[in-house]
Amino acid sequence: MDTSLLSSEQIHLAVNACLAPVCSLHGLAVTTVEGIGSTKTKLHPVQERIAKSHGSQCGFCTPGIVMSVYTLLRNSSKPKMKDLEVSLQGNLCRCTGYRAIIEGFGTFTEDWEQSRISNGTPNGTTCSLGSNCCKNRPAEKEEEALFTPGEFTPYDPTQEPIFPPELKISSELDKQNLSFIGKRTAWYRPTNIVDLLDLKDKYPDARIVVGNTEVGVETKFKNCVYPVLINPSMVPELSAINVTDSGVSVGASVTLNDMEIVMRKVIESEPEYKTRIFSAVVDMLHWFAGKQIRNVAAVGGNLMTGSPISDLNPIWIAARCQLQVQSKTRGVRILTMDHSFFTGYRRNVIKPDEVLVRIIVPFTAQNQYFHAYKQARRRDDDIAIVNAAFNIYLENSSPVIKDIVMAFGGMAPTTVTAQTTQQKLLGLKWNDALLEKAYGYLVNDLPLAGNAPGGMVQYRVALVLSFFFKAYLAVCQKIQTIYADYPAIPNDHESAVHGFGSVKPSSAQYFQVVPNDQKVNDPVGRPIVHKSAYKQATGEAVYCDDMPQIKGELYLALVLSSKTHARILSIDASQALALDGVQAFYSAEDLPGKRNSWGPIIHDEEVFARGVVTYQGQPVGAIVADDQRIAQQAAKLVKISYQDIEPVIVTIEDAIEKESFFPGYPKKLEKGNVDAAFAAADNILTGEARMAGQEHFYLETHCCIAVPKCEDDELHIYISSQNPTEAQKLIAEMLDIPANRVTCHVKRMGGGFGGKESRFNVVSLPVALAAHRLQRPVRCMLDRDEDMIVTGQRHPFLGRFKVSFTNTGKITGCEVYIYNNGGYSMDLSGAVLERAMFHTENSYKIDNVRVHGYVCRTNIPSNTAFRGFGGPQGMFFAETMIRDIATYLGKEPSEVAEINLYQEGNITHYNQPLLNCTLQKCWTECVARSDYSARQQEIQQYNELNKWKKRGISIVPTKFGISFTCKFLNQAGALVHVYTDGSVLLSHGGTEMGQGLHTKMIQVASRALGISESLIHISETSTDKVPNTSATAASAGSDLNGMAVLNACHTILERLQPIKKANPSGGWEDWIKAAYVERISLSATGFYRTPDIGYDWEKNEGNPFNYFTFGVACSEVEIDCLTGDHQVLRSDIVMDLGESLNPAIDIGQIEGGFIQGYGLFTLEEPIVSPNGTLLTRGPGTYKLPGFSDIPAVFNVSLLKGASNPRAVYSSKAVGEPPLFLASSIFFAIKDAISSARVQRGFSKKFKLDSPATAARIRMACEDDLTSKVPAVDPKLTPWGVTA
Ligand SMILES: Cc1cc2nc3c(=O)[nH]c(=O)nc-3n(C[C@H](O)[C@H](O)[C@H](O)COP(=O)(O)OP(=O)(O)OC[C@H]3O[C@@H](n4cnc5c(N)ncnc54)[C@H](O)[C@@H]3O)c2cc1C
Ligand code: FES
Repeated sequence: MDTSLLSSEQIHLAVNACLAPVCSLHGLAVTTVEGIGSTKTKLHPVQERIAKSHGSQCGFCTPGIVMSVYTLLRNSSKPKMKDLEVSLQGNLCRCTGYRAIIEGFGTFTEDWEQSRISNGTPNGTTCSLGSNCCKNRPAEKEEEALFTPGEFTPYDPTQEPIFPPELKISSELDKQNLSFIGKRTAWYRPTNIVDLLDLKDKYPDARIVVGNTEVGVETKFKNCVYPVLINPSMVPELSAINVTDSGVSVGASVTLNDMEIVMRKVIESEPEYKTRIFSAVVDMLHWFAGKQIRNVAAVGGNLMTGSPISDLNPIWIAARCQLQVQSKTRGVRILTMDHSFFTGYRRNVIKPDEVLVRIIVPFTAQNQYFHAYKQARRRDDDIAIVNAAFNIYLENSSPVIKDIVMAFGGMAPTTVTAQTTQQKLLGLKWNDALLEKAYGYLVNDLPLAGNAPGGMVQYRVALVLSFFFKAYLAVCQKIQTIYADYPAIPNDHESAVHGFGSVKPSSAQYFQVVPNDQKVNDPVGRPIVHKSAYKQATGEAVYCDDMPQIKGELYLALVLSSKTHARILSIDASQALALDGVQAFYSAEDLPGKRNSWGPIIHDEEVFARGVVTYQGQPVGAIVADDQRIAQQAAKLVKISYQDIEPVIVTIEDAIEKESFFPGYPKKLEKGNVDAAFAAADNILTGEARMAGQEHFYLETHCCIAVPKCEDDELHIYISSQNPTEAQKLIAEMLDIPANRVTCHVKRMGGGFGGKESRFNVVSLPVALAAHRLQRPVRCMLDRDEDMIVTGQRHPFLGRFKVSFTNTGKITGCEVYIYNNGGYSMDLSGAVLERAMFHTENSYKIDNVRVHGYVCRTNIPSNTAFRGFGGPQGMFFAETMIRDIATYLGKEPSEVAEINLYQEGNITHYNQPLLNCTLQKCWTECVARSDYSARQQEIQQYNELNKWKKRGISIVPTKFGISFTCKFLNQAGALVHVYTDGSVLLSHGGTEMGQGLHTKMIQVASRALGISESLIHISETSTDKVPNTSATAASAGSDLNGMAVLNACHTILERLQPIKKANPSGGWEDWIKAAYVERISLSATGFYRTPDIGYDWEKNEGNPFNYFTFGVACSEVEIDCLTGDHQVLRSDIVMDLGESLNPAIDIGQIEGGFIQGYGLFTLEEPIVSPNGTLLTRGPGTYKLPGFSDIPAVFNVSLLKGASNPRAVYSSKAVGEPPLFLASSIFFAIKDAISSARVQRGFSKKFKLDSPATAARIRMACEDDLTSKVPAVDPKLTPWGVTA
């Protein structure tokens, strides 16, 4: 390697543990999260800061994030904010919404240090935003800090553990020629090219492995088996990177990270014109995977994999890079990377016995222009939908094309060039006339069939044209100063040239601080750190699968249906059972009669399919083996023969056509006289809105361990579940034993979001069966793809509405038909639909309403609870109506919304009066805080000046009903034990999934008992402590359990009363000791049931909800009309959470819920093939919001002076309500699209389904380019659909 360009110091690299082969670690020092700090000794500052800044909720992502930032600090103790941003790429968090993490870690950066100095508050009580800090804005003085950076332990790099001296002083280990020969795989690490070529000659089918980011995925997920692996990282020729006279020569094993470092240095030192290809590479690498991947992935690995969406291959081909390949028998060959290099899907002209040695990336000439583009679903860390590179040579004397190469990824099974277009453009002048010609040729050069894999067919063609247009403008911009009389590009076109870069995030949080006279040890209302945060940051927190193996433990793997709808003709497990280490196979035969049936409400599911399968991924059986590898291998050997059954119903539309609905539906909810309202209406509109489903993507997948007690059928179940009581009940029913023999324990979950409310039974029932039958402990944790295939998602919804309204926009009546896609079984779909029906007016008073609800029965996994539980979908229909009315009347949506907004005392369409309604207050405050009106005008001006980027703004209210709509679930229990040392063991019926429930319950008990929270501990949720609990769901966890805790605490206090009276000056410990001596029970149960609720569907009367949580959000976005990309510029949220029990936790819930909702409304789109195969089954294809997706300005405000008489200590529920507010981003996008359409002469009325993906945004921004995209043949079956 060229040591002049790369540092020879030890470097620290963050890597993905699951992709780093142990053999590749020879000679390296490995640091894990456990090695850098501990709660028992000392926390590392990185661990301390993520915890104290409230950046850890469920904590499952926390160790990975800690290690990314630890690595950053080890390489640079005072990084820039930009470095922090890059180091966090590739990390995902499903809970926090990222803001808290960025802000906490921001305190390590130079930017923060400087802002502190310039703000003159070196005690560290300010934030990282310098002059943007909200404290510098007079109107926002009331903001309080959720954490105090001044309390952080300063980061001192000299305190880091020393690098192992034996590795530092000697490179002996690096020089070793290694071979590790295992039972199934041999790993070779040659140290010179001769040995490497010898090995490749001997094993031509061997895989060369550098980063293992491709091979690792192939072996883990694609069942590929590679008996010989060769690691060439220590072969000098392959790891060298040199600058030569003609360009940069990059060894095939050089990592992307190292290539970037070197190219950046060359860009700095050489004239701009020479390094245009390097600039394109460096820019592209920013969007290539995440830092952990770029740290290890090699240039050669990317090139040789030959993925059709490789981000670098279009650049290499457009640049006509040269490749040096070498074999033992034929020696060195030099190849040019051109259109003939790739010969088919992931195939190229390099022979099996050849090795790629290096790639030579040339310098550019003065009249040569090079531009590359990528569009993905998500900007950071995502694979491309389409990418492109353009290499254009113009004549010296005039802007005439001398040579041009255009390479595209994502348009065919290989990277391709636009051969005809290239030829036809030769000799043409680089001017607007060229554009029309080029579009025509490109469309023909890069055709896509309507059923092409990957889908989004028209969008991909549109992207090709858009990228060319962007490249055209970028070249125009450069040459306008070079060629005489060359016209400058119009000002309003400039916004087309660049995509979105990263922006420095800024944020503010406002909340009510506790009164000065509140007792110091009363934690209610204070931003207390999540009780597990420190343990989560150090890796000490124990999740289900972290429990140590128990002696004799076995592993269970599910055998899943590969058919969508079929009769099972036979099941043959003989081959699997013959495998060494396999203990048993279970199927429906092991569960006679009703024992095989289960369901959270209706028992319409089977533990194992009997006779017929009704979705792909349905458990047909289970293999139990000595370990995970054997169990999973054996599960694949179970042979099942099927006979297909018709019909296969996948989508809501299919179900409507086939009238496939669950019994009991449609359901109707009616108030007033809708027909009369329609008859008397000034205006009537009809419309339709559709929302896709959403994968929960809790970072911890479903997991269960069953431990038989070998006596009296006793069974202990350790499970990641929101509903341990249901697990207990269904396991007991399946095993035909009393429920008192089954104890379910939940310590914590790595996220739940509703996905663990009922679907855990798919895992827990087979595991419990196996443990009971074998009388041995059995464990199962689903792989991510299994979890996604098996356990269901948020329901897709379709709403069709008719709405009447006055000329001012006042809604007089509406009729809505709501359909949700329940999947193959009922699960909770009925309740989800009902909540959607209750929320279909969102926050608007409509006197005449008729809602019809249908649960569609389809052949997909059973869809289930997900944060919001149908509420967001119902409200989405209302917001769509508001916007359709506004468009029709030519008014602002906010104006129409405001005149319809509920007021105090109004009555909903289910006849519940709105009491303590703060909707109007939230609205007014949000309008003011967001400076809505002024920004609306600024946006209008911006849009007039920019043709290809448009901005949009939207303000959206929410009213979320709190309670289970099923009355009997609104109850909770608690158990308080006080021990003689004064310590308290608190148990309650709620489960901790990151939402901070245990922390809040400790706060409640602390205030109630008048003792320090440090005396109170919650160990777990367990059915033998608090029985017959409801699921922790419906946002009601704190409300229900908080009151039950209060009840138990009051019982204890009552009993202590005489003792306290006798010794008023004594303390808690004295009273407890005295009480014990007086034989007073120090253990009490608590119970609570929500009063005055219950709803009668027949009569449309009663209160389905205890109260409502209100909120309003305003969001502004910018869209790139050419690519469909977008950036959220700002979101302001105002929520009424009563008197918050813990503002840090509540603001964390708001931000986390909002970002999860942002994913729902813009990014996340589960795609299913028309025959029912889930196509998005892992993080590679299913995209959650990442760090860089959060609003650039993100402000959250808790409404002050809004106390709630109907929940514990005047608080309000928070879990679900904020999610819908993210639809403000969706509608802001719609607003921006609208501006684009109007400017181009298209109608302002258009349909935009949710999510507003890049593809939908681009295609809705109709223009000259989209009009050139060929229509899709309707006879072709599309690759994928949204269910
Ligand atoms: C999370 C994630 C995100 C990703 N994101 C992107 C992305 O944004 N853009 C993108 O383009 N790709 C992406 N990839 C794909 C992958 O990271 C890249 O293709 C990477 O560069 C592969 O390099 P590697 O060293 O890890 O390959 P390896 O897995 O080590 O090897 C890959 C293949 O290359 C062959 N090979 C390697 N070196 C040689 C050689 N010298 N001679 C002959 N054959 C050789 C191997 O035999 C093997 O078949 C992503 C992968 C993951 C896991
Ligand atoms: S805290 Fe990040 S995934 Fe839960």
